Amino acid sequence: MINNIIKKLKIIKIIIILIFLINFIKCEDININTNNTNTNNTNNNNTNNNNTIIINDGPLCPSKPLCPCICEECGPPIGRKNSKQIFIYVAGNKQSNYTYFEKDPSVKWEEIDTLALYSNKFDKRITCLAHRNNVKVVFTIEEGSVFDDFKYLKVNGNYWDGYINTTRLVNTLLENNVDGYSLDFEYGNRHGKDLEFSNTLKTLYTKLKSVNENYQLTSAFSGYYSDVLKNQIQLVADNLDYIIIMGYDFINTKIGTNITNSANSPIGLRKIVKSWWMDPLEKKDSAKIVLAVPWYGQIAKCDLTYEQRANAATIFQADCIIDNRTSVVQKPIREILALLNNDYLIFDINNNNENIINNKIINNTIKYSSGILWTSNTQTVFSRYRDTNGDIYQFNYDSPFSIYSKLRSLGIGGAGVWSLDKIIGLPKPIIDAFYFAFSRQVIGDTYIEIN
Ligand SMILES: *[C@@H]1O[C@H](CO)[C@@H](O)[C@H](O)[C@H]1NC(C)=O
Ligand SMILES: *[C@@H]1O[C@H](CO)[C@@H](O)[C@H](O)[C@H]1NC(C)=O
Ligand SMILES: *[C@@H]1O[C@H](CO)[C@@H](O)[C@H](O)[C@H]1NC(C)=O
Ligand SMILES: *[C@@H]1O[C@H](CO)[C@@H](O)[C@H](O)[C@H]1NC(C)=O
Ligand SMILES: *[C@@H]1O[C@H](CO)[C@@H](O)[C@H](O)[C@H]1NC(C)=O
Ligand SMILES: *[C@@H]1O[C@H](CO)[C@@H](O)[C@H](O)[C@H]1NC(C)=O
Ligand SMILES: *[C@@H]1O[C@H](CO)[C@@H](O)[C@H](O)[C@H]1NC(C)=O
Ligand SMILES: *[C@@H]1O[C@H](CO)[C@@H](O)[C@H](O)[C@H]1NC(C)=O
Ligand SMILES: *[C@@H]1O[C@H](CO)[C@@H](O)[C@H](O)[C@H]1NC(C)=O
Repeated sequence: MINNIIKKLKIIKIIIILIFLINFIKCEDININTNNTNTNNTNNNNTNNNNTIIINDGPLCPSKPLCPCICEECGPPIGRKNSKQIFIYVAGNKQSNYTYFEKDPSVKWEEIDTLALYSNKFDKRITCLAHRNNVKVVFTIEEGSVFDDFKYLKVNGNYWDGYINTTRLVNTLLENNVDGYSLDFEYGNRHGKDLEFSNTLKTLYTKLKSVNENYQLTSAFSGYYSDVLKNQIQLVADNLDYIIIMGYDFINTKIGTNITNSANSPIGLRKIVKSWWMDPLEKKDSAKIVLAVPWYGQIAKCDLTYEQRANAATIFQADCIIDNRTSVVQKPIREILALLNNDYLIFDINNNNENIINNKIINNTIKYSSGILWTSNTQTVFSRYRDTNGDIYQFNYDSPFSIYSKLRSLGIGGAGVWSLDKIIGLPKPIIDAFYFAFSRQVIGDTYIEIN
């Protein structure tokens, strides 16, 4: 009896091995270098688009999971699609959800040039889908993924190769069939002296371009930067395809701040982009500047005076001094907009999944909702909610119009967003308006001062 089972198991094992072998044999004839797979792209006038890297043992094709990929969709990096770069970050673990990219209405392929995803549990089929839509996929990475030993970085122009293992970084691109890296060091006021940062970029940029001209390297920066970066700003630009300026997190979350005057993404960004990035860099580099806008906002509990608490009209006023017992909490735009049609407010008051009162998240019934209000100082929107206890909560956020106001006639290289997942589930016209707000016709080709 037991002998019989063992025999059967052995037969099954042999069959499985045979299936594997057949698969490999079937692959043999296609295990050759890929030629240009993308010549037929009418959208693409980029003459640098040769795409002739050799992938003998490269990424896997979804339809033949055991075969090297030579299908068009899995081909090597594609060239630039549009006159402006539309650079989209995707968070929320979406990089492992192929269905999301295949089906979700928030993914408007025709409006996107680059998708920046995390590499953790990345579903390789997403690149195939993206390439079929002429969209690049890049991995968003932080310091730890670039430097083998970040702690020991020293100042020395030629010192960097040992610390940045460019072979490993290129292998990761080849293995996943993606098109480059989006560095998220958020450099500006931390790390590096002298030319440390630009040397790092140079090493990586040179390596990527030597493997494939169409590999892309970008880096995210805060709007303002310290002297450390100022001294190497031109070299930084020389060794990047795009400079992604993070046009968010400008809100001052210190207790006592009047947050109505302190937007996540204020209109003042226009001047920051001009005087900190466009002016110091060579004129041609304006085409490398991409302003990323937020599809999220912040909520705060307001500290009320006795009079404000007693006055029902406080719901329509603009005073919101951050309450000293709570944190300012980030919320995706989809949650903020959903709240406009809600009669209760769920708020993790300390942004740590617990509430000091009763140790749980508050769930308060809303008595009044202000609808959408406008701050002219920052040219952004906010909404206020009064609960049945008389407390007021304020959301500061961006609408398609406030984003449009920031970006119109900036004359830079493109726009970006943090992050695509934050508009999932919104009605299509709103999704379309959010995309339109940073489209190439809005950005324009020359900077125009707008007061
Ligand atoms: C690559 O292209 C050349 C010229 O068009 C052609 O002769 C060659 O057969 C192609 N190779 C493959 C593997 O398709
Ligand atoms: C190029 O595109 C045209 C029109 O879409 C198509 O008919 C043709 O087969 C394509 N050629 C190749 C080589 O893919
Ligand atoms: C590509 O270039 C040709 C000739 O310069 C031009 O007529 C055509 O409109 C361009 N196509 C695109 C998609 O930009
Ligand atoms: C593209 O291929 C052509 C012909 O092989 C070659 O002359 C040219 O230098 C290549 N361009 C790039 C950017 O590799
Ligand atoms: C993947 O995305 C689809 C479409 O947006 C969604 O319905 C589904 O719940 C997601 N799956 C996971 C595991 O997040
Ligand atoms: C760089 O990475 C490659 C591939 O992962 C590895 O084989 C090599 O040992 C690494 N080099 C150094 C100096 O760590
Ligand atoms: C807070 O800012 C708003 C918007 O500028 C302003 O109307 C209001 O007077 C400010 N309140 C205080 C206390 O500064
Ligand atoms: C918060 O502010 C109130 C007055 O507005 C004060 O009585 C209280 O001590 C403050 N609490 C903390 C933790 O600072
Ligand atoms: C919050 O309260 C509303 C209305 O009572 C209820 O429908 C909802 O399920 C509650 N949500 C949570 C997370 O407790």
